[in-house]
Amino acid sequence: MNYYLAPMMGYTDCYFRSLVENIYGNSVTTFSEMIVDKAIIHNETKTITKHFLKNNKSAIQIAGSDPEEIKRAINILNKVDIIKHVNFNLGCPSSRVQENMLGLALTQKYDLVKKCLFELIKYNKDVSVKCRLGLGMNEDKSYIFDYLKLFYEIGIKKVFIHCRNGVLNLDTKKNRTIPKINYNLFLECCDQFPEMELIPNGEVNDLETFKFFQSKNITQFMIGRQFAKDAFFLEKLDLENVKKKTASIINTINELEHYKYLNINLLKKSIFTALSNISNSKKVKKEISVINNYSGLLNYFERNAIWS
Ligand SMILES: Cc1cc2nc3c(=O)[nH]c(=O)nc-3n(C[C@H](O)[C@H](O)[C@H](O)COP(=O)(O)O)c2cc1C
Repeated sequence: MNYYLAPMMGYTDCYFRSLVENIYGNSVTTFSEMIVDKAIIHNETKTITKHFLKNNKSAIQIAGSDPEEIKRAINILNKVDIIKHVNFNLGCPSSRVQENMLGLALTQKYDLVKKCLFELIKYNKDVSVKCRLGLGMNEDKSYIFDYLKLFYEIGIKKVFIHCRNGVLNLDTKKNRTIPKINYNLFLECCDQFPEMELIPNGEVNDLETFKFFQSKNITQFMIGRQFAKDAFFLEKLDLENVKKKTASIINTINELEHYKYLNINLLKKSIFTALSNISNSKKVKKEISVINNYSGLLNYFERNAIWS
């Protein structure tokens, strides 16, 4: 099975992505937080070096709504060797994103989406899209079918579908709970577009859901919040084998040694996601929370057998 760590603002920074990659190796592909194309155009070096480590394996998720700007951002990304996959955000409902006609809001304008995607596909490595199943509260199959047809015709075959509608003018948190999950419509999409690689996202958190999808021959999954709650959850569900847990944390810390923008609190925040299921979680987190420098953190994991 293949897993994808969903793009999440405030979570999938380079610390957390590095951690997940060190835990699971190639079984999990990770995605950056959403990065607006303007940031790439106007501040390329800082944007790339801040979000991506030198040995980066993550995809970049971008958002934009002006075909000219997307063209410029893609021109730049075509020259960035450490990035090999661009994902385009067509699902974010946040008000700021909406004000700028990005993400979900952009999908109100089919022709503009088309123009943006024409520029996106000028990226010379992997391209994918992340979108919702529908727009507004009501089920409307034509929304997703029309967009999948467009993606397919343009040549984008890999699509991550958050299996619930997105609703404009509803806050982001409610947009992840109120519109109902609709895996059956996702499966209908798979039937209608058998040549596309459609990957479900949205509450794929437990064995029952994984088994349901597997029974329908779906073997790739995008998961967000569950990774942030417990980075080892795939192992807990017996879906992945993780042998060297402490080593995966130490490797993550080592990878960040020369990172120019190192923020010890963000590093600790990502490491905490790996500590939610240990027996003395509270005590360990308390001990780590008072460490305020890089070498102290490294020493802590080198000296303490947290998973013996
Ligand atoms: C805090 C947070 C930030 C998010 N930021 C993004 C983002 O930047 N881009 C995006 O496409 N989706 C974003 N999402 C949506 C997730 O990628 C995912 O679609 C959603 O959480 C549903 O998956 P889950 O039930 O596995 O968490 C975010 C979700 C959360 C919880």
